[in-house]
Amino acid sequence: MANVKITETILRDGHQSLIATRMKTEEMLPILEKLDKVGYHALEVWGGATFDACLRFLNEDPWERLRKIRKKVKNTKLQMLLRGQNLLGYKNYPDDVVEEFVKKSVENGIDIIRIFDALNDVRNLRTSIRATKKAGGHAQTAISYTVSPVHNINYYVNLAKEMEKEGADSICIKDMAGILLPYEAEELVKELKANVKVPIEMHSHFTSGIANQMYMKAVEAGIDIIDTALSPFGNGTSQPATEPMVASLQKSPYDTGLDLNLLNEIAEYFRPIKEKYMKSGILNPKVLGVNAKTLIYQVPGGMLSNLVSQLEKQGSIDKFEKVLEEVPKVREDLGYPPLVTPMSQMVGTQSVFNVILGERYKMVPSEIKNYVKGLYGKPTVEISKEIKEKIIGNDEVYTGRPADLLEPQLQNYKNEIKEYIEQDEDVLSYALFPQVAIKYFQYRQAEKYKIDNSLLDKEDKTYPV
Ligand code: CO
Repeated sequence: MANVKITETILRDGHQSLIATRMKTEEMLPILEKLDKVGYHALEVWGGATFDACLRFLNEDPWERLRKIRKKVKNTKLQMLLRGQNLLGYKNYPDDVVEEFVKKSVENGIDIIRIFDALNDVRNLRTSIRATKKAGGHAQTAISYTVSPVHNINYYVNLAKEMEKEGADSICIKDMAGILLPYEAEELVKELKANVKVPIEMHSHFTSGIANQMYMKAVEAGIDIIDTALSPFGNGTSQPATEPMVASLQKSPYDTGLDLNLLNEIAEYFRPIKEKYMKSGILNPKVLGVNAKTLIYQVPGGMLSNLVSQLEKQGSIDKFEKVLEEVPKVREDLGYPPLVTPMSQMVGTQSVFNVILGERYKMVPSEIKNYVKGLYGKPTVEISKEIKEKIIGNDEVYTGRPADLLEPQLQNYKNEIKEYIEQDEDVLSYALFPQVAIKYFQYRQAEKYKIDNSLLDKEDKTYPV
């Protein structure tokens, strides 16, 4: 039994979950020194959707945000989330791009990189783990937690052992859908603690209303670190709120030792920011409620709402229940992939096609074909011959590490955006989000030009004519 540590997520997953990642750097900066004083295990500040949102919606350079945060957070470790070989994008990148991205992330201030893969294929984590350690960072791997007939304790223990062998400095249970039940968590954490040596962290979402109870059982079972978000951006589809978790563990052997008064002061700072986003409509009160449906269907809340909007667009919302029944069947056919990006979208779309067209796999999106061909990694269980034939005919299935098929790309990316490069990191922004990055670079150039103009104006005025 030992003190439980807390990773604070308000600067990443908290606002990603509740306000679509719209918090601006200028809204973060004034409170960083106080956050640094709390004594958190880490502050999650980067990765996930933050990078894309900075460039796409906020006209901010994500690298500059990271450097500004690092400058003010001198004592607490900074953490980011990375989707293995996908980095922060939606496709596999070659190793040279992954290595450069990880190196630059650590150079610009990241201490801990949480690395996950949608299929829990450890080969997709390998390059990021090695690059993180080489750069002097802490490589945390994350288990994408899901429920299926094959995802049992044994499966997770073996996966964790494999991750440890691959070099993981710690392991996170990533319950992105918020469906890990308290007593299952207790058993899972106990078994992981008994079978691997590295620290274990718990990450969940309050979406279905059970994450607080789940955290308590995980704590009692020996979890080392839990992820929470300060109350203005906690609960709902975000992490369990920090202050009630800290209070719940007081007067116990697991006491976090964090100061509730200080946490409250910081929460007071964020409250008007939350109100602002509520008024503007970016914070939809819907996400603050409890969505028990995810417990029944065992699919993430985001996937449910995507299905609704897909069906509404096609005027087929009456087929919603049928599609929900089809989801577990498609998942079984595809070897039980965890329902996390991009698999959740892919399984959802295929289920809609199967129901609407009245014939299963009559139409198959190219992403699903590529997945069946092995280009995303290894399915949890092998896909049956029958389904394979239905989806890819006689095409061959690749069984190697997907990134081994990719040629180095970094130099090409550099050549493509020569005229915009102001820092090495720009090449990586471009590699991840080409159109969005170029638009941002053009904005940045225009801004610079404006500033130069205003300087000239001033000089003209002070010049005695
Ligand atoms: Co999350």
